[in-house]
Amino acid sequence: PFVAVVAGGYSGEHSVSLKSAAGILSWLGQDPFATFLVLIEQEGWSVQIADGKRVPLDKNDFSFENEGERIRFDYAYITIHGTPGENGLLQGYLDMIGIPYSTGDTLVESLTFNKYVCNRFLSGFGIRIADSVRLTESAVLPDAEGLIVRLGLPLFVKPNVGGSSIATTKVAQPDKLLPAIAQAFVEGKEVMVERLIIGTEVTCGAFRREGKIVALPVTEVVAYNEFFDFDAKYNGAVEEITPARISDDLTVAIQRLTTAIYEHLNACGIIRVDYIIEADGVPTLLEVNTTPGMTPTSFIPQQVRAAGMEMKEVLCSIIQEGLS
Ligand code: DAL
Ligand code: MG
Repeated sequence: PFVAVVAGGYSGEHSVSLKSAAGILSWLGQDPFATFLVLIEQEGWSVQIADGKRVPLDKNDFSFENEGERIRFDYAYITIHGTPGENGLLQGYLDMIGIPYSTGDTLVESLTFNKYVCNRFLSGFGIRIADSVRLTESAVLPDAEGLIVRLGLPLFVKPNVGGSSIATTKVAQPDKLLPAIAQAFVEGKEVMVERLIIGTEVTCGAFRREGKIVALPVTEVVAYNEFFDFDAKYNGAVEEITPARISDDLTVAIQRLTTAIYEHLNACGIIRVDYIIEADGVPTLLEVNTTPGMTPTSFIPQQVRAAGMEMKEVLCSIIQEGLS
C-alpha cells in the first residue's frame, strides 16, 4: 500500500509539522508500506519523490505521477498541526474521496481544535477545566476589567484555535491584557482568556489498538521559562520527565482520564492530552491535541519508548487498522 505522510499546513506550526513528518517517515521507512511525504501548502499540494524532487498532487483523487506511473495513495497519515490537518478540513476532503486516514473524523477534529468548545464539552463528563472566556470579535474592545475580576491575575490569553503556544501570553499586569488579546487575534478569529492553573504540568498520549485504548506513560513538563511557551517547546528550555514524578495512583488516574477523554471524543489514532495537577491532586484539563508533535524529541515518542514499545510498531498498527 501507498501511504502519504501529510505535512505542512497553513498555520504558524508549519515548520513543526515538517519535523514531525521527518520523524514519522524515518520510523516507518519503506516496509511494509511505500511512504511518501505529501506537502499541503499555500503554494500548492505536492509529493516528494526521489532526490527531493516535488511533483504535483492531483486533488481529484489524491494521486501523483512517479516514473511514468500513476499512483493513488491508499492511506493518509496526517501530521499537520493546525489547519487544515487538525481541524477537520482535510478529514472532510479525504472522506469525500474515500481515503482512510490516521485521525478522528471531521467532528472530532473540529471539536478538539476549538479549545473553548472542546473543554466545555468534556467538562460535561465531570472533567475539571479552568474557567475561561471566549472572545470572537477582534473589532470589539473587550471588558478588560470584567475579565480580570472574573479570572484573576495572572491569566492566560491564547488563540482559541491554534497550537505550540504561538501568540500565547501569560498576563500579570492589567495594562498588558488588551495588547495580549490583540496579539492573539492576529493568529485567529477567536481568543480564549483563561484562569491561571497552578500545579504540575503533565501530558499523556493514547491510541487505539485492536479496539482497545492504550494510554502511554505520563510525562512531567518543567519549563524554565515563564510557562511552556514556544521557546520551551522547541528550543529546549524545558525538562521533560517520563515517567512523571507523581504517585502510581495519580499516574493511573491520569491514564484513565486520558482513556475516558479518548472514548468521549471517539478519537482515532494517536492523541495527547495536557493537564495541570493542582494542589488538591486533581488534574485540570488544558487541552486535547489530535495531531501531537512527532519530532524525535516530542512527548509521544518519549512515552512510546518509556512504555517499551517502538514507534514503528505503533504507527504500523494504526495504519494497518485504517487500511483493513
Ligand atoms: N501542537 C503541538 C505540535 C503539539 O501539541 O504537540
Ligand atoms: Mg496543542
